[in-house]
Amino acid sequence: MNAGAAEQRVQPNQKPTHVTVPVALRSRAYDIHVGRGLLARAGELCTPVLKQRRVFIVTDSNVASLYLTPFTASLAAVGVRADHVTVPAGEASKDFTHLEQVLDAMLKAKCERGTMIIALGGGVVGDLAGFAASVLLRGVDFIQVPTTLLSQVDSSVGGKTGINTKVGKNLVGSFHQPRLVLADTDVLTTLPRRELLAGYAEVAKYGLLDDVGFWTWLEANGPTALAGGEKSHDLLRDCIVASCQAKARIVAADEKESGERALLNLGHTFGHAFEAEMGYGGALLHGEAVGIGMVLAFEMSVRLGLCPPADVMRIRSHFAAVGLPVDPPKQGPRGVITPAMLMAHMTQDKKMKDGALTFVLARGIGKAFLTTDVPPRVLEETLQAALTG
Ligand SMILES: NC(=O)c1ccc[n+]([C@@H]2O[C@H](COP(=O)([O-])OP(=O)(O)OC[C@H]3O[C@@H](n4cnc5c(N)ncnc54)[C@H](O)[C@@H]3O)[C@@H](O)[C@H]2O)c1
Ligand SMILES: [Zn+2]
Repeated sequence: MNAGAAEQRVQPNQKPTHVTVPVALRSRAYDIHVGRGLLARAGELCTPVLKQRRVFIVTDSNVASLYLTPFTASLAAVGVRADHVTVPAGEASKDFTHLEQVLDAMLKAKCERGTMIIALGGGVVGDLAGFAASVLLRGVDFIQVPTTLLSQVDSSVGGKTGINTKVGKNLVGSFHQPRLVLADTDVLTTLPRRELLAGYAEVAKYGLLDDVGFWTWLEANGPTALAGGEKSHDLLRDCIVASCQAKARIVAADEKESGERALLNLGHTFGHAFEAEMGYGGALLHGEAVGIGMVLAFEMSVRLGLCPPADVMRIRSHFAAVGLPVDPPKQGPRGVITPAMLMAHMTQDKKMKDGALTFVLARGIGKAFLTTDVPPRVLEETLQAALTG
């Protein structure tokens, strides 16, 4: 089925229930289904990729209380048995301790090579379950059922999995592509608004990267998409489909990030530095940090004479219009944040190449590119201006 094509099983006089985005990765190719009511149809949609009529679900405490029962009921309705493990909600579950608990639970449930692992939750569950699947019995298949906007547009697509260590975030992991992704827009109605907005920053990233048309569409439709209500379902679905198409295209061209895929890190070198300084305790969400980081990447591009200043104003005013923070936090748990503190985090980033920092800069909205050529003085000035502005 082509990207954007409506699904075929549509009742007369009914609008298509979902859209399918294919990820073209030869033997590891898979589909991303996006739309309403997909959790209730999980059994029917998952069955074609199951090798056994049993699955093992990894979820978190928040998602379990909202969606585990209807999800397992939909599997049971087609004769698929589901065991599960629930980890506490939050980033702290993406560690060695919980990885061990998840693997133990899978082994105690006698998961076999043919047992499908299902990640039901946000990016934390997706990264943890995906990594567990990639090492369980030397690798078993898994399905992503992302339940946050961020995980529907970003972490569930592309096959990066992993956990955090004491040294830093996402430093231990694997590339392990899912067999299927089910992104149900209905579940976004229970997502806290701050989490929804944080996910929207990653949606906006795809426009800023290489698609000014999508960015312009977001300027017109983003506020309604995020407002809730009937209209927002269709608009959010369109946001998710466009984002998955963009990510799928980039991942298909560069699965293991030897080149173009690194463009997806727009705003992330700055963002990760602020996240690390703020301590991952919920004071600054990943998507919020990425939004702030994208503003900084464009501001640094202006400072280097690469990008028109009017484009930064456009980004700032759209983020402000939807309610995303645009200015960085100036105080963290260690006190006043300085450029030196942030630059120290940046040099620990795993995206360092031969000791040089890689940045995604832009010649304008939709014109991002990679460079290792940023004078440290310009980086420091950019940070200084943002922290004192
Ligand atoms: N693998 C990748 O390519 C990739 C890309 C981006 C981010 N990530 C990772 O993703 C993680 C962040 O993901 P996230 O933002 O989804 O965070 P998350 O998984 O922690 O979810 C955010 C919060 O929302 C709750 N929640 C989830 N779905 C809900 C729903 N439908 N209704 C109500 N509450 C719900 C969760 O319990 C949690 O409290 C980070 O660990 C990040 O490193 C990975
Ligand atoms: Zn991100």
